[in-house]
Amino acid sequence: MATRLPLFVCTVHSPVLTTKPSSSSARTRSFSVLTSIKMKGNEITEEANEKAGSNVNGKKKIFVAGATGSTGKRIVEQLLAKGFSVKAGVRDLDKAKTTLSKGNPDLQIVKADVTDGSDKLAEVIGEDSDAVICATGFRPGWDLFAPWKVDNFGTVNLVEACRKRSINRFILISSILVNGAAMGQILNPAYIFLNVFGLTLIAKLQAEQYIRKSGINYTIIRPGGLRNDPPTGNVVMEPEDTLYEGTISRDQVAEVAVEALVHPEANYKVVEIVSRADAPKRSYEDLFGSIKQR
Ligand SMILES: NC(=O)c1ccc[n+]([C@@H]2O[C@H](COP(=O)([O-])OP(=O)(O)OC[C@H]3O[C@@H](n4cnc5c(N)ncnc54)[C@H](OP(=O)(O)O)[C@@H]3O)[C@@H](O)[C@H]2O)c1
Repeated sequence: MATRLPLFVCTVHSPVLTTKPSSSSARTRSFSVLTSIKMKGNEITEEANEKAGSNVNGKKKIFVAGATGSTGKRIVEQLLAKGFSVKAGVRDLDKAKTTLSKGNPDLQIVKADVTDGSDKLAEVIGEDSDAVICATGFRPGWDLFAPWKVDNFGTVNLVEACRKRSINRFILISSILVNGAAMGQILNPAYIFLNVFGLTLIAKLQAEQYIRKSGINYTIIRPGGLRNDPPTGNVVMEPEDTLYEGTISRDQVAEVAVEALVHPEANYKVVEIVSRADAPKRSYEDLFGSIKQR
């Protein structure tokens, strides 16, 4: 959602860590590499070459839900820049044509509404995706249940779709203060404001809890208030239910999401992030490594 989080709060609380399943086995996959873009039914596609086994370049394919969002599109850009192949899940193919980079053979754009249910999502995620990043957020409108449908059930649908596809890596962009009530932040204006609109933070917390019980290897990223401007400071990463205020550039949120994929220290963790001008620059290995698994 587009609402900015003002200032927030802190304490600690910890749900249970699930047992870790073995990482996804080497599955035989087929995948499509697009050479250019065309509208075709539900997909923007053209000259899709079906290949058996691993990606042609040995690239991992990441499905990004909410890929036309302000954070989602940055995640797509950074994944591509880092050498991943991307399947961008979008609600609006026309919007995707203007929002996402064109002509990149490593980018495939597919129509995916997270409220459509897990079967449909599993179909679009396909058998060739190695991980899912969820950057969705309800769009404010007349539907008071939209946060619950998108930020809770929509995310749950994605997790279920991952199960159906035996995908064992899930990265969620959530929010600081989701557990504000347990943190003693029930009167925090940001907590009140965001929950007035359809219990947004509570919806996100429900989805987080579902992921944590799913057995899937997750990284839940809880950013502070999101900014569109480039980073002005370094990333500060704290354990769950710690930060209650602060902001961060969406570029840095996207970076954290992509780095979580390549650092095993991020596995099965919930991290809260903001940026601060006076914070020291730290490696992601160090940042993720400093957070304890719960
Ligand atoms: N704003 C803040 O200060 C703040 C702070 C902390 C955390 N967050 C959270 O961070 C995440 C990213 O925020 P953002 O502001 O960058 O997001 P955003 O620009 O509002 O984008 C949200 C994305 O979700 C998509 N979406 C909405 N409903 C969907 C559905 N039913 N199925 C599939 N996709 C759907 C939107 O699609 P369309 O492009 O088609 O509309 C859009 O791509 C959100 O979860 C947000 O709640 C935000």
